[in-house]
Amino acid sequence: MATISIKNNLNTQSNVLVLTEKFKNEFGLPEKVESYILEQLKKEDVKSLQYNYIGKLINILIIDTKTGEHALNEKIRKHAAGFCDALNASKKSDVYIYNQTKIDDLSLAAAEGLCLSNYQFIHHKTKDKKGLNSLKSVYIANSKINNAKVDQLNYVCQATFKARNLVNEPVNVLNAIGLANAFKQMGKEAGFKVEVFNKAKIKQLKMGGLLAVNAGSVDEPTFSILEYKPAKPKNKQPYVLVGKGVVYDTGGLSLKPTPNSMDSMKCDMAGAAAVGCAMYAIAKAKLNVHVIALVPATDNRPGFNAFAPGDIITMMDGSTVEMLNSDAEGRMILADALHYAKKYKPALVMDLATLTGAAVAAIGTFAMVGMGTADESIKKKIHTAAETVNERIAEFPFWDDYNDLLKSDIADQKNIGGPYAGSITAGKFLQKFTDYPYFHLDIAGPAFLSAKDSYRGKGATGWGVRFLFDFFKNL
Ligand code: BES
Ligand code: MN
Ligand code: ZN
Repeated sequence: MATISIKNNLNTQSNVLVLTEKFKNEFGLPEKVESYILEQLKKEDVKSLQYNYIGKLINILIIDTKTGEHALNEKIRKHAAGFCDALNASKKSDVYIYNQTKIDDLSLAAAEGLCLSNYQFIHHKTKDKKGLNSLKSVYIANSKINNAKVDQLNYVCQATFKARNLVNEPVNVLNAIGLANAFKQMGKEAGFKVEVFNKAKIKQLKMGGLLAVNAGSVDEPTFSILEYKPAKPKNKQPYVLVGKGVVYDTGGLSLKPTPNSMDSMKCDMAGAAAVGCAMYAIAKAKLNVHVIALVPATDNRPGFNAFAPGDIITMMDGSTVEMLNSDAEGRMILADALHYAKKYKPALVMDLATLTGAAVAAIGTFAMVGMGTADESIKKKIHTAAETVNERIAEFPFWDDYNDLLKSDIADQKNIGGPYAGSITAGKFLQKFTDYPYFHLDIAGPAFLSAKDSYRGKGATGWGVRFLFDFFKNL
């Protein structure tokens, strides 16, 4: 990962990204270069320019600081991501951010875009090592930004990379036990407690949903409890996060087709990765909040004892589910975790889950679907965090009418709702296991991309880490 730091010795020998409303040559470019740049920038529609001066890349982005804050930050992140590619293509190892506007924090957006787009997942390649990114250092020049903000940005970028790594790792490398071990390692590194329940303990607790999904698997399930509790936290009641940890989703006996479906289902623990890695950033930054993350984890396979459509499952809370599609497995394992969360008397529970194809069909890969019972003041904070980091939420209705679609003739509810409103019926199913302010986030669309999208990259995006960190930072 490229490290972000503050350093003020920008000169003509440096690669530089200039953020400006009107370019001024403040770092000693020769007159010839300066006049060329000014000439180019005079042309209408030229809002950015890249110039190669004695082998150093000068990249200038003209911005209008009157643009809304969120949109402006995102524009800068994306532009910086493009420049990151250029820097790596020219094998540059460092870059300065020079901000000529009055808004200091814009430098952070540029650093974030440069840093996040510098991600690579290539450690399984044994031969072609040439493609290794060269960029190592991102320097913020000429700004009044304090070190604490830079540290936080480094932590959140590191945590995003950790989440991407976990998601990109296939199930033959990372199963439920591997995921729990990764959390233990992160807890040690960042300073939070991790307790992992094994199959015997999960049985003892009667987590029927998690055990049902795990029944067709040869690998044991895990239930991880991550807890970060500073000495005097701001909140009396903890915030609880829940992450879907389906380390691989074949669909079970309701088997998925392979192309464009099962082939990307190593991503089905992206919610788990997001909450676990958000904990990492929160603990690293020593945010003064008490947060707990719960991760039920298993693969979903059609092995010998696999749960079968038609089965009736008794969940941890004692309620029964007529399980009619083994591919609706996420809600089965999340339900037990949501029930388990009750014991904390939480101020809020948020779950992140790659839960439904219906969410992707409805809004695509640019946002997550959200819904819940949390009150408007909490929801406002949730949306603000989401807008700030551009991990946005399309909030869906959460009317009780949708409960009708989950009615079963022979059990308390079914695990599928029918052809319409699939994301909402999944949310309503989960709501039955809550008794606290609740917000459900379906990240099936943005968690894993089949094509590169700017600083989010291709494959795992680490979606949710930046959102969660921002939410807790501003509480
Ligand atoms: N893991 C999938 C959802 C998913 C789809 C994640 C696309 C990422 C990208 C989930 O377990 C699933 O299979 N959901 C079913 C539910 C249905 C059977 C009610 C779906 O959406 O088809
Ligand atoms: Mn599924
Ligand atoms: Zn799934």
